Amino acid sequence: MNYQEFSKTAELINKQNEWRNRTINLIASENVMSRRVREMAGSDFAHRYAEGHPGERYYRGTNYIDEIESKVKQNLKILFKCNHTEVRPISGTNANEAVFSKFVNKEDVVMANSTPGGGHISHHRIGSLGKFTKNIIDFPLSKDGYHIDLEKTKFLIKSSKPKIIVLGKSLFLFPEPVQELSDICRENGARIIYDAAHVLGLIAGGTFQDPLREGAFLVSASTHKTFFGSQRGIILSNMDVDSWRKIDRGAFPGSSSNHHLDTLAQLAMCTNEFLEYGAQYANDVVKNAQTLGAALDRFGFNVEAKEFGYTESHQVAVNVRKQGGGEKVSKTLELNDIVLNMNMLPHEPLSNHDHPEGIRIGVQEMTRFGMQAEEMERIAQLIKECILDNKSIRDEVNQFRKEYLEVKYSFDDRTQ
Ligand SMILES: Cc1ncc(COP(=O)(O)O)c(C=O)c1O
Repeated sequence: MNYQEFSKTAELINKQNEWRNRTINLIASENVMSRRVREMAGSDFAHRYAEGHPGERYYRGTNYIDEIESKVKQNLKILFKCNHTEVRPISGTNANEAVFSKFVNKEDVVMANSTPGGGHISHHRIGSLGKFTKNIIDFPLSKDGYHIDLEKTKFLIKSSKPKIIVLGKSLFLFPEPVQELSDICRENGARIIYDAAHVLGLIAGGTFQDPLREGAFLVSASTHKTFFGSQRGIILSNMDVDSWRKIDRGAFPGSSSNHHLDTLAQLAMCTNEFLEYGAQYANDVVKNAQTLGAALDRFGFNVEAKEFGYTESHQVAVNVRKQGGGEKVSKTLELNDIVLNMNMLPHEPLSNHDHPEGIRIGVQEMTRFGMQAEEMERIAQLIKECILDNKSIRDEVNQFRKEYLEVKYSFDDRTQ
């Protein structure tokens, strides 16, 4: 029985690999690693521990990971122009937990983006932040729902004196007002934490905003969304050494013990690829998202934030209420091998959580497979045929995807 189940699992893994090569993946929080980095999965590091820091481990046998970990930290400091990098959190949520556990105490007031406003669950009462305080205030949003209302926010900062404000979110079309809020935060003793989980690759590529230069105290992030790394988390900062010690303890032993050395080694390789190709990739991602937004609009979809050019990130948000809502539309597309998520839009009440009006589209993965403006037009056309014309498009999707199986912006074809 166990052997049958074991074989069945192997079969399901292979099926997943084959199926994903036939799909157009538009999930905004995912990406792919290059072939050569993927081939490193399953290295001996997958079995090992290395608690502590390079050269100061609680374990023996760590010479090679010491070298790799030191190098990736050095490269990330170059890429993000910062003095401190914490690479041990194994996800963005772990990174946030490491930060919140050290900078938020019971009763502290914290401001963050609401769920309909795009905020992530780790910034909420029921998520990581909620373990440390329940005093969480939502940022007031402007009418369009995609920008923070600066005047109201400044008033709230003065009147409620938050200890930290958490900028950055999951539905993330436009840069956050880090610079605009940095003076008022400083005057009122609030620190800005910027969650770059979604936009890390765009920041690294220089196409979005530069939160550390604009006044953020620290940046936390996942490494596998627009940053095309292995699935992990990081924390970056230029803070003073004493404050950084707190982050160090927050990451270990606070939010992790084993820091998954195999994916850390992969992250080191991805970071090299990013240093080489990241600027071009990030530029192409944003252009592709804008092209896709405009094409969907032309085909008759209700694309959000039209008056602001749809997006400045990798994401496009579409209100599909008239087409039956986000759940129905995303399920129909999945049956046709286009994979994306339903998503609440900023004007929706929390009660719409399971049946939101929106879908969220991310173009970063298809960009990495080499798709450009022409392919974005084609994807918009396929979505239109499927959702507006009720056609079955699966064969066309599979056929189309066959031409885009190699991962670009990578060292896959390089020998020196
Ligand atoms: C804004 C934001 N922060 C944190 C996370 C959590 O990242 P992870 O899934 O790596 O834990 C996400 C995930 O989507 C996110 O969107």
